[in-house]
Amino acid sequence: MCQDSSVISTAERYRRFAREAAPRSPIYAAWSEAIAGDDELLALIDTLPVADRQPVLVLTAARFTGLSPRGDVRTWLEGEWDAVAAVARARATQTNDPRRTGPLIAALQGISGPIALLEVGASAGLGLLADRYSHVFAGPSGERRIDPLDGPSSLELRCELGAGVPLPGRMPDIVWRAGLDRSPLRLDRADDERWLRTLVWPEERARAAQLDAAIGIAREHPPHLVAADAVDGVAALAAHAPADATLVVWSPAVLVYLAPAERDRFARTVAGLPGNWISLDGRRVLAGVGERADESLPGADGDFLLSRDGHPLAVVSPHGERIDRWAARD
Ligand SMILES: C[S@@+](CC[C@H](N)C(=O)[O-])C[C@H]1O[C@@H](n2cnc3c(N)ncnc32)[C@H](O)[C@@H]1O
Repeated sequence: MCQDSSVISTAERYRRFAREAAPRSPIYAAWSEAIAGDDELLALIDTLPVADRQPVLVLTAARFTGLSPRGDVRTWLEGEWDAVAAVARARATQTNDPRRTGPLIAALQGISGPIALLEVGASAGLGLLADRYSHVFAGPSGERRIDPLDGPSSLELRCELGAGVPLPGRMPDIVWRAGLDRSPLRLDRADDERWLRTLVWPEERARAAQLDAAIGIAREHPPHLVAADAVDGVAALAAHAPADATLVVWSPAVLVYLAPAERDRFARTVAGLPGNWISLDGRRVLAGVGERADESLPGADGDFLLSRDGHPLAVVSPHGERIDRWAARD
């Protein structure tokens, strides 16, 4: 038994991930459990910077370098460690999930006028193409389908609504869009596209098919992406938005990567811009939002919150396929 505390903590990290991953991916759960029980593999992983030891990053890097879903994770990591480590050091978890555009459309219902959409942490920019996808919102009182203006899309996204969640009524009129990311994934680079696809977990065929369709749409309508930091770059990019449209800054699943002081700085920067800010974050990521939600939308710490201008709007599943509850006053 290895007594090195960093090895023990990495083992715990992988064991915990194995439990969390099991319902979504028995393969990732089994690989993670195997790693957690193997001191040699843990020692290899501990040669990485702490931030790069996270299970999703290492397992994606292993698959990216050639580990097949039916392969043996021990043999692969032992034999190919240098290649796996190079990918884990160079890449980040940049999962881009088009399903998050369902909650975005729901939040945009309360904003009038043509929209200039600016996504922060845009990855490959698939979250900027909300109006290019068909959306089916399904709640207890019925379903509503919202198609792009030029007709049904090759990608149909379903968003389940809980009781009391309003059915969105219209597709927003997005007249300008741009994204920033500290390291945007470029779909014209084969390795970036392959990394994006490899970030989908092995058994998730429906997600892989959605991603495939979204990539096809993004190729036809490539969103403008710039490499910039969330806090330092947002105002400069916002300055390019047309003045006759309502600027909406959209920050799904990104602010968790910022230190708390940087999140505050981001919130202050965005509050100083014209227009609105819609975010989707873990419940405890944005301090003010989480506290307000404890009053208006009480729930579990693991919830994700959709917020508009710092006010909680809804409890949402992390990837946006469900809006469970809506704030009484929106
Ligand atoms: C989990 S992905 C989410 C991607 C996309 N927003 C979505 O919801 O599908 C987080 C993205 O944020 C980016 N990111 C993390 N920290 C950032 C920062 N400080 N400035 C800009 N982008 C950042 C990462 O590169 C990554 O592409």
